[in-house]
Amino acid sequence: MEVGNWMFFGFITLQLLSTTMATEDGDGDLVDDLNELGVSFPPLEEIPPVHFATENSTVVTSQTGSTALVPCVVNNIGDGMVSWIRRKDYHLLTVGLTTYSSDDRFQAVHLQHSEDWTLQIKYVQTRDAGLYECQVSSHPPTSIFIQLNVVEARAEISGPSEKYLKPGSGLRLQCRVVQSTEPPLYVFWYHNNRMINYDADQGINVTTELPVKISTLTISSAATRHSGNYSCVPSNAQPASAYVHILNGENPAAMQHGGRGLSWLQCSPSSWLLIISMLAVLC
Ligand SMILES: *[C@@H]1O[C@H](CO)[C@@H](O)[C@H](O)[C@H]1NC(C)=O
Ligand SMILES: *[C@@H]1O[C@H](CO)[C@@H](O)[C@H](O)[C@H]1NC(C)=O
Ligand SMILES: *[C@@H]1O[C@H](CO)[C@@H](O)[C@H](O)[C@H]1NC(C)=O
Repeated sequence: MEVGNWMFFGFITLQLLSTTMATEDGDGDLVDDLNELGVSFPPLEEIPPVHFATENSTVVTSQTGSTALVPCVVNNIGDGMVSWIRRKDYHLLTVGLTTYSSDDRFQAVHLQHSEDWTLQIKYVQTRDAGLYECQVSSHPPTSIFIQLNVVEARAEISGPSEKYLKPGSGLRLQCRVVQSTEPPLYVFWYHNNRMINYDADQGINVTTELPVKISTLTISSAATRHSGNYSCVPSNAQPASAYVHILNGENPAAMQHGGRGLSWLQCSPSSWLLIISMLAVLC
């Protein structure tokens, strides 16, 4: 070794000794004092590897029109960045908190110091269904894949879609919202084109239990004016309708709807035989 190097080594040693001596009667903050010299030490612990707290291949289901939340919780991210990639077309949606997609329904939701990098998709559509990749820019990059399913909620009115009632009898229509992940904000009932939720003076009672997604329309004594098309329209689901016929008793053909008025003519051959033989007995 050259003399110069030895001199340098000696200088460092002297500095270390004097620093150690200084700290012994000083504040005792040895590490800080040493770092002032620019001498670095290997970290005592290994940097923990990036770890996903969200399970790989998680499946989330959202209904059309709602806000979908695609989870990705990352532990020990260090100075890594989280990117969201839509796999069906390899479209880069977000990097960190920046949205790269021109579709601003996509946004990474992240509170400072949290480990949560959920992807939020507003007004989710059927076409948004598929695989989403949550990628962390570690070395090498590491990812998990989340499957988003999108369901279309719809209303259903129980029983047949055409109902026949005698005047004075009770009508009860029950509407359920099915295939939905969240309750509606409201359910409107229409009679033909008129909204009837508050038509108590017309003998109409609408009772809605939003949390269980059921709305019930009751009419205690049906009259001719109650016949027609009833639709159940929830805030966030496809509507359903049912047609109510109020029989007028004297004219069965008039109550029929859609050209089936002469159905009594469509007797089976054995009924005709019976009728003919009855006529034969009479004559
Ligand atoms: C998640 O699963 C995919 C394959 O489905 C795999 O390529 C990927 O490495 C997995 N991610 C992690 C963090 O294990
Ligand atoms: C409407 O129906 C509900 C449930 O059947 C009942 O509790 C309520 O008293 C009815 N309201 C009126 C005004 O009849
Ligand atoms: C009843 O009304 C709904 C909503 O306006 C409509 O889609 C449906 O075709 C109507 N049904 C009948 C039988 O008129």
